[in-house]
Amino acid sequence: MTIPNGVERVLLSEQVIEERVSALAAQISADYADDDELVLVGVLKGAFIFLADLARRLTVRHHVDFIALASYEAHERSGSVRLIMDTRNELTNRKVLIVEDILDTGYTLDFLVRNFEVRRPSSLKTCVLLRKPDREQVVVKVDYLGFDIPDVWVVGYGLDYADKYRTLPYIAALKPETYTKNL
Ligand code: IMP
Ligand code: MG
Repeated sequence: MTIPNGVERVLLSEQVIEERVSALAAQISADYADDDELVLVGVLKGAFIFLADLARRLTVRHHVDFIALASYEAHERSGSVRLIMDTRNELTNRKVLIVEDILDTGYTLDFLVRNFEVRRPSSLKTCVLLRKPDREQVVVKVDYLGFDIPDVWVVGYGLDYADKYRTLPYIAALKPETYTKNL
């Protein structure tokens, strides 16, 4: 395994991620019936790999859709969220499961839940791969959680720093100097 410059250490290996994603898929498949009109809504870009792995392990029928939001520039935490691309599917009367890469302050997921509630889905749940409990500023209910992690900037498995490191197969902590030198 080659670890690129700028990466400090691997937090979650490919195998650990795979096992957890399989367990989440089993749990979700058990909770939804096959004719439920389940719609997975992945939050771009960060959740695209997680959503792809999760969706392929579901044993219940589902649709896949995406939404694009921007919350930060690089790793700056501005707290402002913008909707860049909306879903293709109507969400009214559908069972909607938001699939997000990481819950940090909670502002992004809170924004999304409020935005979706207005569309009157028949149910609305959240599935989040990573959560940083130490960073929480807004409480958002997570129905399916992958892992709690410490307050470090993580990359890989869809997550980036300034659009880099996104396709590493594992989740790794960046060296602090990698993301502080540009401040
Ligand atoms: P929140 O609004 O503070 O909860 O931020 C959530 C969003 O910030 C996520 O969807 C990610 O795009 C981004 N983010 C937060 N922490 C990290 C990290 O450690 N690595 C990569 N992206 C992150
Ligand atoms: Mg995100």
